[in-house]
Amino acid sequence: MQVTTTVADTRAALDGARRAGRTVGLVPTMGFLHEGHLSLITRARAECDVVAVTIFVNPLQFGAGEDLATYPRDLERDSAMAEASGADLVFAPAVEEMYPAAPLTSVVVAGLSGSMEGATRPTHFAGVATVVAKLFNVAGPCRAYFGEKDFQQLVVIRTMVTDLSFDVVVVGCPIVREPDGLARSSRNSYLTTDERAAAPVLHRALVAGVDAVVGGERDPAVVKALVADRVAAEPRADLDYVELVDPETLDPVERLAGESRLLAAVRCGRARLLDNLSVLVPEQG
Ligand code: PAJ
Repeated sequence: MQVTTTVADTRAALDGARRAGRTVGLVPTMGFLHEGHLSLITRARAECDVVAVTIFVNPLQFGAGEDLATYPRDLERDSAMAEASGADLVFAPAVEEMYPAAPLTSVVVAGLSGSMEGATRPTHFAGVATVVAKLFNVAGPCRAYFGEKDFQQLVVIRTMVTDLSFDVVVVGCPIVREPDGLARSSRNSYLTTDERAAAPVLHRALVAGVDAVVGGERDPAVVKALVADRVAAEPRADLDYVELVDPETLDPVERLAGESRLLAAVRCGRARLLDNLSVLVPEQG
């Protein structure tokens, strides 16, 4: 496996692969890899000839007072894990390589970036879209793998790719969970033992919401209130938001029909935990 730190070397490696007729799979990450990230690498390995993993803690997507300085980092361990999952290349640039000067250009997917995660983190998705656009430009035409764990991010990136005609196929991958339902996340390392025991309440609350729909409930307000009540029963978790939205536009749904997405975030000690589930109402449901 090759490890690159510069845009030029990464571009040369991936352009060379494409010239040799090989397809490229791209897995953007901020590192501190876990089973969720590895599932994206494994999927890329199965579908592409060359698999490139990027590891870059992107300052642009962190707000003031967020965890940029303390975000967990371990490049050596990450490289070994990426290689074991089938990566051919790890691109791990320094901040100065990605942003030699503070960028004056920003990609804003307006309309999708202000709700939910964007409500408490107003500059977050511009930071994500900007770095992902840059990574797509470095990698060139490819299939790019993103987790449904960050569902709003996935929709923001899909929309950016369509709007700006990137030659990239975005592949959304299912959420990988701990046995007790907690979605895997680099930030789970912030949880104390006590908080870790409380954290699965988020997934359980979402499952209760989906179960209500399966049981015939069609009013989003009732489903959201049920999720909020379940979270409120756990004193160590504080609900940030719960929303039921259209999975493509992220518009709140008025009445449940067809497919929608139930998303929520909670604060649990130092960690903010995100999770979401698909909600399907059978036809004539
Ligand atoms: P990061 O949080 O490191 O996540 C990298 C990718 O792994 C994202 O697509 C995320 O959705 C996916 N992922 C994380 N946990 C997952 C899980 N439990 N199951 C499945 N997939 C999971 O998301 C980012 O980094 C950054 O915003 C990035 C896109 C790299 C831009 O900086």
